[in-house]
Amino acid sequence: MRNFDIRNAHFDRLVANEDLRWMGQNTNHVPSHPAVLEAMARCIREEGFHVYAPPAGFEALRQGILNDLGLPEASAMVTDGAVAALYHVCHTLLSPGDQFITTDPTWNWPMAFARSKGAIVKQIPIYGAEHGYRLSAERLAAAITPKTKVVYLVDPNNPLGTACTPEEIAAIVEVVEKAGAYLIHDCTYRHFAYSHTLAATLYPERTLTIYSFSKWLGLAGLRVGAVVAHPDIIEKLAASPPNNLGSSLLAQRAAMAGLAIKDEWFPGVLAQTRANQAMVKAACDAIPGMLVPVYPSNGNFLVLECDALGIKPEALVAAYQKHSIMIRQGSYHTPNFGDRFVKVSVSVPTQWVEEFVALLPAMVDEARAGTGDTKLF
Ligand SMILES: Cc1ncc(COP(=O)(O)O)c(C=O)c1O
Repeated sequence: MRNFDIRNAHFDRLVANEDLRWMGQNTNHVPSHPAVLEAMARCIREEGFHVYAPPAGFEALRQGILNDLGLPEASAMVTDGAVAALYHVCHTLLSPGDQFITTDPTWNWPMAFARSKGAIVKQIPIYGAEHGYRLSAERLAAAITPKTKVVYLVDPNNPLGTACTPEEIAAIVEVVEKAGAYLIHDCTYRHFAYSHTLAATLYPERTLTIYSFSKWLGLAGLRVGAVVAHPDIIEKLAASPPNNLGSSLLAQRAAMAGLAIKDEWFPGVLAQTRANQAMVKAACDAIPGMLVPVYPSNGNFLVLECDALGIKPEALVAAYQKHSIMIRQGSYHTPNFGDRFVKVSVSVPTQWVEEFVALLPAMVDEARAGTGDTKLF
C-alpha cells in the first residue's frame, strides 16, 4: 500500500465509525438550522442538481459573501471549499523561484501547493511565549526578500487560536505592500473570533481573502468556500479555474440559506463553542503540567500542551481514539513544535466535550505509558 492509500484508509475508517466524536478537524457538529436543511431537501426533491451552477457561483451567494465580510467593492469567486481557493490562488500567483512566506505553525496545504509550483517556502516560527504565539510585522519584514511574492497569513491561526489585532494587521499590511507582494489572508475561522480585522480593507489591490462555509456553517462535507479579491485578480483567477463548471449546486443552496439565517443561528453556535472551550480549559487546569497556552481561542479549537507531562501527543491521540474520540496531534501542523501539543475542536455537542473531559485524567495516565508510535495523519 502506498502512503496515500494508508492515509485514505485511515480517514475512511473514521468516517465509517458512526459513534466518532469529531474533535480533531475543527469541523462544526452543531445541528443545522432547519432552513439550511430545507434548502438542500428542496434542491434534491425538485431535482435541481441536473444543471451546472454558474462558473463563479450564484450571484446571490457571491453578493452574500461580500456582505458577510463587509467588502462591497471586492469580487467573490465561489470554490470547492477554501482549500480549492488556496490551491488555485497559489497556482495562479506563484512561479518557480518565488518566495512564499508563512508562519510556523500554519495550515500546511498551501505550502505544498506553493512548492508544487517551484516556490521557496519560508516559515517564521510563532509558537512559544517568546513570540506571544503571534506574528510581528518586524519579524515578517526581516524575512522578506526581493523574491517574496506571497505572504500567507492564517488569521485566526489554526492551530493556535490567536487573531491579529487591528494594529498588527495594519503593520503586516504595510510590510507586504512595501514588498509589492500578495497577501493571502486565510479567514476560515473569522466567525469564531472575538475581534477580527480584514487586511483587504487596508490593501484591497493585492489581498486575497479566503472564506469557508465548512466551519461556521458546518458544511465541511459539502465543499463550498470562496476567494474574495479585487475584481482584476478575480478576472485572472477566472481564466482557468478547476471548477469552471461551477461548484456544487446543493452546497451553494445550503450556503445561501445559511447566510440568510446567520444572525439568528450563529450566536448560539458561538456561545456553545465558547462554553465548550471553558469546559476543556477547566479540565486541563486540573491536571498539573497540562497547559492551554492560548485562551480564550479565537477559533473553534484549543491547543493543549502536554510536553511538560512527559507525554507524546500521539500517545494521547491514540488513547482517545480507543474511545472513538478524535483529537489531533501537533505534528499534523508542525514538525518543529508538534511534539508539544494536541489540538481539540469544540464546535461540537456538549455531550462530546463532557465525555472528553471526563476521560482526560485516565487518558493522560494511559498516554504516559504509551510509546506514541501509532501511525496518525
Ligand atoms: C486555515 C484553514 N484554511 C482552509 C481550510 C479548508 O477549509 P475548507 O473546508 O473550506 O476547504 C482549513 C481546514 O481545516 C483550515 O484550517
